Amino acid sequence: MRKKITVIGAGNVGATTALRIAEKELGDVVLLDIVEGLPQGLGLDLYESSPISGFDSKIIGTNDYQDTKGSDVVVVTAGLARKPGMSREDLLQKNAAIIKSVVQQTAKYSPDSIIIIVTNPLDIMTQLAKKISGFPKNRVLGMAGVLDSGRMRSFIAEALNISVKDVSAMVLGGHGDAMVPLPRYTCVSGKPITDLLPADKISAIVERTRKGGAEIVNLLKTGSAYYAPSAAAAQMVEAIIKDKKVVLPCAAYLEGEYGLKDVYIGVPAKLGSNGIEEIIELKLSAAELSALKKSADVVKENVNKLGA
Ligand code: APR
Repeated sequence: MRKKITVIGAGNVGATTALRIAEKELGDVVLLDIVEGLPQGLGLDLYESSPISGFDSKIIGTNDYQDTKGSDVVVVTAGLARKPGMSREDLLQKNAAIIKSVVQQTAKYSPDSIIIIVTNPLDIMTQLAKKISGFPKNRVLGMAGVLDSGRMRSFIAEALNISVKDVSAMVLGGHGDAMVPLPRYTCVSGKPITDLLPADKISAIVERTRKGGAEIVNLLKTGSAYYAPSAAAAQMVEAIIKDKKVVLPCAAYLEGEYGLKDVYIGVPAKLGSNGIEEIIELKLSAAELSALKKSADVVKENVNKLGA
């Protein structure tokens, strides 16, 4: 039987994620939004592309959680983007309320699903989702590291004029200014980039990666990135649906790993049909560990503000 994947939030990230999942034929796709007609229209348009693109996934759009019943994976992209005049705090509270209602419905209709959170502020929303769903930690994870390391890989490939496929990058920590890109664990065909690029060039790439989301927002002016975020979310869905056991950086719940406890933060994790199957502990320097801790402190502080 085909797998069932629900994408909640039919905005730019959600609709593009739905398309990518369908094109990879990972299963049938349900696209849900609160706006009446929007997911239905997009779902139909996406489905009508299937004979042309040649994929056999069914896609439907809906406003009704009944249609999401029994999903294997649920990707949550519902939320507001920060608008002029809106503080980070406002955004936190507003998106927390959205995540709360979305996750309650998800837990009710798809109690065995694996939830991937994409809504920002990512790590905090993922921690909230775990609490609201009551799901075990392996079944609630967040998408950020795949996106951040994808951005870093693209900048390195460009700087060295090489294939993106030969670059592997590792970005840990929270999704935002406090992320922790790790040049020592970032390699080109096995060689660390510290042997290939001068220190100032690496620092510039690290800085650009950290501000990758903002760079795009500044260019777009009225929205935020969605091609790379949706590609990252679809890769995580694929790893789970196909039980690939691939190691990807994800927001994962730590219980002592990296010396951190009871907090969601970006770390490398093995993804398979059980969601997060193992957290990989890299050997970090004291400076890297302290950057990771700082990043986790920011998440904890905000989680406390929500009482989550
Ligand atoms: N239930 C379902 N959908 C909702 C809800 C809700 N309670 N609240 C809002 N939505 C929907 C909106 O109607 C909108 O269609 O979420 C969608 C968000 O889409 P966009 O505004 O286009 O935002 P997008 O660019 O897709 O980003 C979504 O992903 O990368 C993150 O920071 C980004 O948090 C943001 C999220």
